[in-house]
This record gives sequence, structure tokens and C-alpha cells, in this order.
Amino acid sequence: MYRFNALRLRWFVVAAICCVAGGSRAAETVPLSSLDLAKMSAGWGEPRANVAVVGKPMSIAGRAFQQGVGTHAPSVMHVQLDGKTRRFTALVGVDDETDGKGTIRFEIYGDGRKLFDSGVVRGGAPAKPVDIGLEGVKRLILIVTATGDGAAYDHANWADAVFQVEGDPPRAVDPSVEPKEILTPKPGPQPHINGPTVHGARSGRPFLYRIPCAGRRPITFSAEGLPEGLTLDPATGIITGRVPGGKGEHMVTLKARNASGADRRPFRLVVGETLALTPPMGWNSWYIHYHRVTEQHMREAADAMVSSGMADYGYQYVNIDDCWMKQRGDQPYRDAQGDLLPNAKFPDIRGMVDYIHSKGLKAGTYISPGPWTCAGYVGSHQHEEADAKQFARWGFDFLKYDWCTYEQVATGAGRERLMKPYRQMGELLKQSERDIVYNLCQYGMGDVWKWGGQVGGNCWRTTGDLGNVAHQRLPGFYPIALSNMRHWQYARPGQWNDPDYILIGYIGDPRRRGGDDAGIPCALSGNEQYTYMSMWCLMAAPLVFSGDMAKLDAFTLNVLCNAEVIEVDQDPLGKQAKIVRQTEEEVVLAKAMEDGSLAVGLFNLGEAEQEMVVPWSELGLAGKQTARDLWRQQDIGDCETAFRARVGRHGVSLVRLRPAK
Ligand code: GLA
Repeated sequence: MYRFNALRLRWFVVAAICCVAGGSRAAETVPLSSLDLAKMSAGWGEPRANVAVVGKPMSIAGRAFQQGVGTHAPSVMHVQLDGKTRRFTALVGVDDETDGKGTIRFEIYGDGRKLFDSGVVRGGAPAKPVDIGLEGVKRLILIVTATGDGAAYDHANWADAVFQVEGDPPRAVDPSVEPKEILTPKPGPQPHINGPTVHGARSGRPFLYRIPCAGRRPITFSAEGLPEGLTLDPATGIITGRVPGGKGEHMVTLKARNASGADRRPFRLVVGETLALTPPMGWNSWYIHYHRVTEQHMREAADAMVSSGMADYGYQYVNIDDCWMKQRGDQPYRDAQGDLLPNAKFPDIRGMVDYIHSKGLKAGTYISPGPWTCAGYVGSHQHEEADAKQFARWGFDFLKYDWCTYEQVATGAGRERLMKPYRQMGELLKQSERDIVYNLCQYGMGDVWKWGGQVGGNCWRTTGDLGNVAHQRLPGFYPIALSNMRHWQYARPGQWNDPDYILIGYIGDPRRRGGDDAGIPCALSGNEQYTYMSMWCLMAAPLVFSGDMAKLDAFTLNVLCNAEVIEVDQDPLGKQAKIVRQTEEEVVLAKAMEDGSLAVGLFNLGEAEQEMVVPWSELGLAGKQTARDLWRQQDIGDCETAFRARVGRHGVSLVRLRPAK
């Protein structure tokens, strides 16, 4: 408070002199440390005036500073200027307290333009000078990121940081995060059949498919060309029976009718060896329930998938993650026959799976090829065949096979060492009497995208856990997506790159013990949630939500359930988007669609709204194109040579381009 008053007094004096002299005001020096530091975020501790984040005097590579701001990456501060601030100067670096540890990066944006980038700064390195002109700038953003190696020891100093001010003093403000706007119009009461137009199944296996269909119930369903052995329940739209014999394609037309109208949709049933001809869609228990998961959670998730309408847009897998088996120490782990014993929270797995199936949905499970799962529960090691059989007996339709402690028992060398356990389970699933979609989880080791298909995988995680990524300037899903994007040429029908789950809406807290397990709002802005879903769909990623199924609010459902956006993901051509452009500020992705159209996402990675432009030359297009905004489900007119859009901070413009008529 004292500092603020002193500052005001100085202003008064300077202003008075200027009035007398009749000239422009002389520049005043305003230290960054005099701003409201409560508005600066920090990855650890609190930003402090004139000392390092730990409270000790500031020093960088042996040089002491009396003045500045000590913070911890990741750290962001938005500063409002009046356009008359002349300069910002500082010396930046890692505080000596870390003893040479810590790697960070300082960035400064002015009205959406990057004005300064320190590059990676390591502990012990001399301070880097910052000296930037700010004439005309209204919004300044000071950022320290953790540079992707985690945020340990990232003690950051903005030493000697001052503004040269001619007009009003700079003011720390909250970032202008846009409200969570619902962009998609509410669907009408008439039926609208959604979901993939192609479906792979293996001859003679049990078949289950609930026709995803929006619209007011009751809806009456029918189908033309349904092969023998399959029956459709007209009231529920659930098709059951056995997959027809032999190999080949069955062209089916699905139909739905209610009091307000009717709809039909082609459905090509491909009987062969390949499952997951489009990326799997569903829900997984991990990021909401963690080790607390119970059978009841799984049943309730199935209920919610139907009652929320998610199932009407194609979500169908209800998947348990880790922690359904016995925990290490809780013996016996298996029965006399060697079959796995679930823990006390799963008293009736068969009943649970039957319940999920009764809703027309599919059930998924999880285990590790190692002796223990990642969370320390029993794994399949040396019981692989028994477990594969047991999963089929229980009725599961999906298996996530997670490397975890396999590391301790792996044999062989190089890629073979990585492929071995996955090939073994892949063979067992191929022999299974059920169609079980196979999800490899080994975090991208040995370029799994190059061989995951060869060992029978339908999708493979390409990175570590999305939920554990240390937050940098951008939320954790960005680094995961940017990494997954690079493997676009390996995705194809039945073989998908998996960048992990969709963590939007309300998500869980791994540290919570007991309680009602209710989710807490995720930290993503509205734009970021649209970006997340758009990236996943353009990347033809499995769409597996892992948030709270009991807290699906209107905004979350709007992001998860836009039929035109999901159609991009589920397109039968099965291409993952190519990277058209990638800089620190923006990414442009383009996905070729079966009908010859192109789905294009323009992603603004910057801190302020910007105009983005993609010329046809970058997209390989020629001639006039009609653009449709997929989030708003609106045609936005013809474009001659390029598509341009204003895209908000961390936002997206997702369009589908077709040659104009
Ligand atoms: C690993 C996986 C996660 C989750 C946990 C469960 O970390 O990558 O997706 O399955 O194990 O322990």
C-alpha cells in the first residue's frame, strides 16, 4: 500500500511538471514488483516482490538483484497498459537457490504478438537481458514455461524488471477467458441417426450394436438388408445375434421414425478380420474414479451413457481401467483353476457386463502383461491364456493391455522385446470366441505406431499419461496432441493412434480417499475444450471420455456430442489429419474425408485472438470451396482462394470444405 501511494505521489509530481512545461510527460519507471502479484500464477509457492520464490535474496549465476519478481514455472501474468508504456526491461534467469537445476523459458506477448522469447534457460546460466518497446501495446502477457521436462526446481526471476511509463501505470489483470459458450444448435425432435457408416466384425462371433440416434423417443427402428442371424429390436434400436459366416460386406440401411419425422443411414457391415474400422468411442473409469472404481460406478456410467444421450451419438464402450483385480498382498489372487479373482468392489463381473450389454453398450477391461498393473494390482504374467479366456467368458468387448511392470520380466532385445507381450495377447484375442478390440498401452515405446497393427492392436497410446503432463503455458493435452499428430501416416481403419482420454467437463482427483467421488471442473477454458475435441476428431483418435458421467452439464455434452464433429472422427476413409502448418502460435490440420471433402482445423495457440488464413495452395485445393462451420453446424459461404477466420485465444475454427456447386 505504501508503495502504491508513493507511486501516485510521484505521478502527481511528474504530471504537474509536464503541465507547467506544456510538453509530453517524462517517462516514469514502474517496477514489475509494484503490480498486484496476486494476479500472477505460479506452479509452486507464490510470486514474491524483490526476493526469489523461496523468499531468499534473488541471484542469477552469482549476480545479486535487489529488485524484481521471483516466481515458479509455469507462471503467467496479464498486464493492462494504455498504449503509452514505452519499454519493459529485465534480466531473466533461474534463481541460484536451485543449485544449477531447473530449465525454464521466458516469453512475452504484446497484443497477441510474441515480443520476447528467452529460449531454454538453465539453472546456473547468466541472466538474459530483456529490452522491448511497448508503444501502442495494450495487453502484455509475461509467461514462464516449464519447457517440457517437468516443473522441478523451475525458480524463475524477473530481475530488475521495470516499465518505462508515460501514461497510466500498468495494471495486473485477470486473463480474459471467454465464457463457456454453447456453439451447437439443439437438435430437433425428429430422428437423426448418427454413428459410423461402416462396422467390422468377425464371422460367427456374438454381435451387439445399438443404433445411435438422436431425436425424441419413442422412436421405431427398422433395417433393410440386415443379414440372417441378426435381429433388430424396433423399440430400442439394438441389433443382436451372430455375425454371418464367411467374409464379405453386407449393405444395410438403418431406419428410424417418430411422430416428428424419419431418418435413414447406410451401414456397411464388413465381415472379416478387422475390428474398429472407425475409432472406438466410449468412456473409461481412470481419470474420475482411479483406484476407487466399483462395479456400481460401471453400471451407473452405462446408465448415464444412455440417459445423457451420449450413446445416441456413437459412444458405446463402458471400460473399467486399472484396480478391479486383487491388490498386491491381498491373496489369493486367483482361484484353484488359475482364473483371476476380482477384488471386493467387483462381486459380480459377469452380471455387470450383462447389465452393460442389456443397454446395447459394450464393456471393456484392463490388465498388464506384467506381474502387476501400474497401480499395483494383479497382472496377467504367465496367465495370459487363462485371462484372455476369462475376459471372453465374462463377455468383454475391449481390452487395454498396459505395459507397467512388464519391464521387470521382459526378455529379448530391441523392438522384439516390446512387441512380444503384445503379440502374445494379440494372438489369444484373435482366437477368442468374442470380438475384443485391443488397445495397446505402452506410452509409444519403440515407435509403436510402426508395429502396433502387426501384433493385432486396434489402437495404441502414443505418449505417456495425458493427466500427468506438467502444465506449461498451454494445458497438458496440447503437448500430447502435438506429439500424436506427427504419426498421421500410420493411422488406418482398424489401427489408430491413441493420444489418451478426453478430460473435459468434470474430472476426478487421484488423491481423494473415499467420499462420493464427485468430479471437479477441469481447468480448461471453453475454447480449449473445443480445441481438444476438434484435435481428437481430426486425428481420428479413439473418443474416450474419462470424466464424471454423473456431471455431464450442457456445455460438456455440447462438446462431446456434436454429430458433425464426430463424423470427422468416424469417417470411413480412416485418415488421420496431416499437419499443414505448425508454429509456436498456430497449428493447421487437414483430414481427407471419404466424400472428397476436407475437414480443416485452424488452431490458435497464442494468448490473444488472431486472424488465421489458410490458402488453397497449402491444402492442395483448387477452385471455389463452400465452407461449413462444424461446431455451429452452419454454412459460412463460398471462399475463392483461402479460408480465413478470427480465432480466439487457444481456440479453433473447425470447418469442412467442399467444392462449391
Ligand atoms: C498407466 C496408464 C493409464 C492408467 C494407469 C492405471 O499409467 O497409462 O492410462 O491405465 O496406468 O494404473
